[in-house]
Amino acid sequence: MADVIPAPASVLRHSSGIARVGSGTALETRPGTEGTARWLRATVGAATGLPFPEAADRPNRIVLGIDPGLPPEGYRLVTDEQPLRIEGGGPAGVFWGAQTLRQLLGADAFRRAPLRPDGPWELPALAVEDTPRFRWRGLLLDVARHFMPKEGVLRYLDLMAVHKLNVFHFHLTDDQGWRIEIRRYPKLTETASWRTRSKFGHRASPLWDARPHGGYYTQDDIREIVAYAAERHITVVPEIDVPGHSQAAIAAYPELGNTDVIDTTALTVWDNWGISANVLAPTDTVLRFYEGVFEEILELFPSQFVHVGGDECRKEQWTESVAAKTRIADLGLDGEDGLQSWFIGHFDAWLSARGRRLIGWDEILEGGLAKGAAVSSWRGYGGGIAAARAGHDVVMCPEQYVYLDHRQAPGEDEPVPIGFVRTLEDVYRFEPVPDGLTEAEARHVLGTQANVWTEVLEDTARVDYQTFPRLAAFAEVAWSPLPPPGERDFAGFEARMAAHYARLDALGVAYRPPAGPRPWQKRPGVLGRPIEGAPPHR
Ligand code: ACM
Repeated sequence: MADVIPAPASVLRHSSGIARVGSGTALETRPGTEGTARWLRATVGAATGLPFPEAADRPNRIVLGIDPGLPPEGYRLVTDEQPLRIEGGGPAGVFWGAQTLRQLLGADAFRRAPLRPDGPWELPALAVEDTPRFRWRGLLLDVARHFMPKEGVLRYLDLMAVHKLNVFHFHLTDDQGWRIEIRRYPKLTETASWRTRSKFGHRASPLWDARPHGGYYTQDDIREIVAYAAERHITVVPEIDVPGHSQAAIAAYPELGNTDVIDTTALTVWDNWGISANVLAPTDTVLRFYEGVFEEILELFPSQFVHVGGDECRKEQWTESVAAKTRIADLGLDGEDGLQSWFIGHFDAWLSARGRRLIGWDEILEGGLAKGAAVSSWRGYGGGIAAARAGHDVVMCPEQYVYLDHRQAPGEDEPVPIGFVRTLEDVYRFEPVPDGLTEAEARHVLGTQANVWTEVLEDTARVDYQTFPRLAAFAEVAWSPLPPPGERDFAGFEARMAAHYARLDALGVAYRPPAGPRPWQKRPGVLGRPIEGAPPHR
């Protein structure tokens, strides 16, 4: 159907007719649809030059309305009758319907100014009824390894909206940088947001970028990002990583580290990739410090879920630390693994007491979780299956399928020397709900998420290259209905992608072309080769 991506759930009618919009086309904004009307005028209005004046009495108009009979994110789009109509089950459904309308108008509707002010603007005459398969359709962006300035983040929110994705997982902290202003701890941004140099390419690469790297979002930047996302029906889930992936924070506040094991005053924000051994100390000082961080996080992010990381916590320092051993003994914990669970359990209870829900990487399952806690299953399906069976909600994001930093073709030309080869087709064929779950267990799969880690993605063009076109395939996995077994139609998707590449071109997305990277997208030398013996990820 007119090459809409992600493919709508059902096309009710599709004639060979044409509908037209022009300078005489009005908008009728019924209650609950004001946000979409604003978005249409600002976005489609800018691309087409059409004013879309408000009027309820012209035959030539687009009606935006709510039909409570539809699911909250579902919509009906009718373009083969006058007036044209977008009816959503709720405001979000109307917005997703408007995304489909924009795609039907053609690639030039994705520009920021009109190429031909006189149009014509035509779209196929049809009727569509559509609703998403999953309610969590996420994209993780790692702004810790490489900072993405605010404008880039806002652009990614726009790109998510184009693909009907609705959860932005904002990876704000890591060993290599802290990216959010916390008013009570100014050194997190003065010190922890900058590193003196960066490893260039894989961590086994001999190359360094000698330029300092950093940046952070002020709290007003964050408020703007959250509001911009909300206008697009996208929830921003912040991630503050504990107790691992914390070297940048320890470099700013040495008392957060295992001071009885190493001289944490000598630590700097990490300049290499991998998993740092410098993890948080299991002390009351650290708990109080991070409660302070999370208090500010809760003020900024209305999201029900708050992500606490919890992955890849190295335990060597805890094994050596007298303070850690004492804590293990005092609380009767099961060694260092028990300490990790205790740490996560503390913030699980702390968040629950404030009406929020903790979500963390699948390592957090290892020590038992509060009922409302949820899991991002990244090390394959296993963690997600175990979580769903234990009654926890799950977001499926296995690195084997949806880590978009991984190379997207074999051979020498791909710019990323790391990871699994995951082609567009692999992503398209990804199934978030694994076999073997009962229906009740499968209902715990909230949805799925593509993760864009940025160790080797130094700038927005690199992020674009890794993310697209695979995010379009991912969007179809997350939104479109599950096809019958064996009928996921990749050839059909590829055919529809021709129209979508034109949209991405109009949006200025530096995607990987189907024929392989453009010359400037290749990166010769050590960065262009898979490294023998490298672990499968990063
Ligand atoms: C992860 O990739 N360590 C979540």
